[in-house]
Amino acid sequence: MIYQSIIDVIGHTPTIHLKRLSEEIGCNIFSKLESLNPGGSHKTRIALGMISNAEETGILIRGSNQTIIEPSGGNTGIGLAMAANLLGYKLILVIPDNYSKEKQKLLKLYGAEIILSDSRLGNNSHGEKAFEIQFEHPNYVMLNQQKNLANPQTHRKSTALEIIEDFSEINLDYFIGGIGTGGHITGIGEVLLEKWPSLKIIGVEPDGCNLLKDIHVPHNIQGLSVGIIPDVLNIELIDFMVQVSVDECIKMAKILLKKESISIGISSAANFVAIKKLVDENKISSDSNVFTLIYDQIDSYLNYFDIEFNN
Ligand SMILES: Cc1ncc(COP(=O)(O)O)c(C=O)c1O
Repeated sequence: MIYQSIIDVIGHTPTIHLKRLSEEIGCNIFSKLESLNPGGSHKTRIALGMISNAEETGILIRGSNQTIIEPSGGNTGIGLAMAANLLGYKLILVIPDNYSKEKQKLLKLYGAEIILSDSRLGNNSHGEKAFEIQFEHPNYVMLNQQKNLANPQTHRKSTALEIIEDFSEINLDYFIGGIGTGGHITGIGEVLLEKWPSLKIIGVEPDGCNLLKDIHVPHNIQGLSVGIIPDVLNIELIDFMVQVSVDECIKMAKILLKKESISIGISSAANFVAIKKLVDENKISSDSNVFTLIYDQIDSYLNYFDIEFNN
């Protein structure tokens, strides 16, 4: 098959039964490798979805060189940068200054303009700064992934349907997901729940955060818990939340590399830490089928492992 553009290759990522990890943790774990999307994450889907939706509603005109501004910690930024180049837009990304330097470099190489926000001002410092800039430049278009309904809708129309196709012969008992914008847990969760009404949907968040009580603290698990309850999140879907620490995630990322030879980022590792905790606490039984996403790969987070290599 010959494709016309990298955009045409987004989606249709593989799902893997992680047999060795399942044995180690004690339940059947399946994971969809969203990390294999162009751009390296599930966010490429929603970047294209939001731009396409803005084009359909006339807010963006393809090839117009209009400026898109977005607060993004990296992955949505990469997806937007890819789409902006190919569809004819300028892109400004606002990123917290404590986020991965590698991703910042990559975004610049794609041609995006990067503006850093002061992370000491809170988990949503980049969102606030992006709004300030857009206020000064009302002609800039902000797609605003935390409010944009095209974000969960993209997952309803693509990711969720792919999962249902993959699980035509297997019942899913649990869907575990981290919450950044809430886009994927909402879009996928709603569709899966229609197919499996007894499915339990469990959210994952960093230690100290408590989304259901609107408590947010600074943390180091990039992509999760952005300091607000995002508008696109359908909070009613969530049965309960599990808290994990960044140290547990770092250990789990290493386990995935060694046991399954799969490279996963810190927020993806958080999902597996949560599954392990739930099995250890007998909240998930050994015959359960548990599904989660692998959002991206370890490459952008290698600095988390510096301590090991410096000693
Ligand atoms: C690495 C990573 N993990 C998890 C998430 C959370 O995904 P969602 O925004 O769909 O809640 C994000 C979102 O930016 C992310 O970049």
